[in-house]
Amino acid sequence: MFARITGVGSYLPGQPVSNDDLVLRGVDTSDEWIATRTGIRARHLAESGRTSSDLALEASRRALSMAGIDASGIDLIIVATSTPDFIFPSTACLLQGKLGNRGATAFDVQAVCSGFVYALTIAEKFIRSGSHHRALVVGAEVFSRILDWRDRGTCVLFGDGAGAVVLEADERPGILATALHADGAHHGILSVPGNVCGGQVTGDPFLRMDGQAVFKFAVRVLAEVAHECCDAAGVPPTGVDWLIPHQANIRIIEATARKMGLEMERVIVTVDRHGNTSAASVPLALDTAVRDGRIQRGQKIMLEGVGGGFTWGAVLLEF
Ligand code: UT7
Repeated sequence: MFARITGVGSYLPGQPVSNDDLVLRGVDTSDEWIATRTGIRARHLAESGRTSSDLALEASRRALSMAGIDASGIDLIIVATSTPDFIFPSTACLLQGKLGNRGATAFDVQAVCSGFVYALTIAEKFIRSGSHHRALVVGAEVFSRILDWRDRGTCVLFGDGAGAVVLEADERPGILATALHADGAHHGILSVPGNVCGGQVTGDPFLRMDGQAVFKFAVRVLAEVAHECCDAAGVPPTGVDWLIPHQANIRIIEATARKMGLEMERVIVTVDRHGNTSAASVPLALDTAVRDGRIQRGQKIMLEGVGGGFTWGAVLLEF
């Protein structure tokens, strides 16, 4: 028994905000700097009051519609997010309430930009164990809420959005191999080192990053974990039809493709349209390429995440 994706969906809130729009809003930057260093041209910012579960709801409805099933048919809901609506209850439970599903297992996964790959891997284990049959796996973020708009080194990089898949038990493949890793020794290079305590924010509530350290780490581990996953499935890296790496920076994406021996024509790139949406980035790119017809049934797709923790992982699947 395999776990197979039967529906995909995504959602970007509001209108695109271009690099030039950021300059107009007072950020000390330029379209040339952002585009050259990152490949980002625009991002979407959630309207005031809209939360990760709101964005997750839109993406989930689209994925459920493609799968042709009602929310009541889902028995597992996993939401990957680092920007939950509340400290608790989980964003997965809030999404469940909005969908009108009752009784499914529901919980959040916190693995920052690797969150979706972590959540999909967990859902696959539930399904292959036989305990669950139809999972809704979502990455949803409102990173704009944790950006310091005075820090041009980070605020230009991130955006808001959500992506979702329906994963069902099936005799056909299916997820073929997965690999997840973390190394907490590197927790300091990408973090939001704050919390709420006694009614006050303690520490720093904004995203902080050592960009160059993250860059080097990401390039190394994305190539390693892709090879690990291919080895586990017995598929050569060049046998992958489409690579969908975490959408953070075009230079990291290009380096990963090069190390796998894949032409950029076989890499899905959406970072230009929405910046780094953390856990939402991989399902956003997957949904884009499924709906525009590039990804076809039977093709081999490699999904990859990397982010704070530090965390990283990959999922190789036959679509
Ligand atoms: O999920 C993982 C998420 N994180 C990432 O993927 C980020 C990985 N890292 C990167 O993509 C790159 O390190 C950045 C794009 C963040 C930065 O590129 P860099 O080549 O490492 O630049 P830098 O931080 O070394 O800064 C170079 C210069 C500095 O100016 P000086 O000191 O040379 O005069 C910065 O102040 O660029 C300046 N700078 C900017 N200039 C215009 C930094 N941010 C900006 C900006 N606009 N937004």
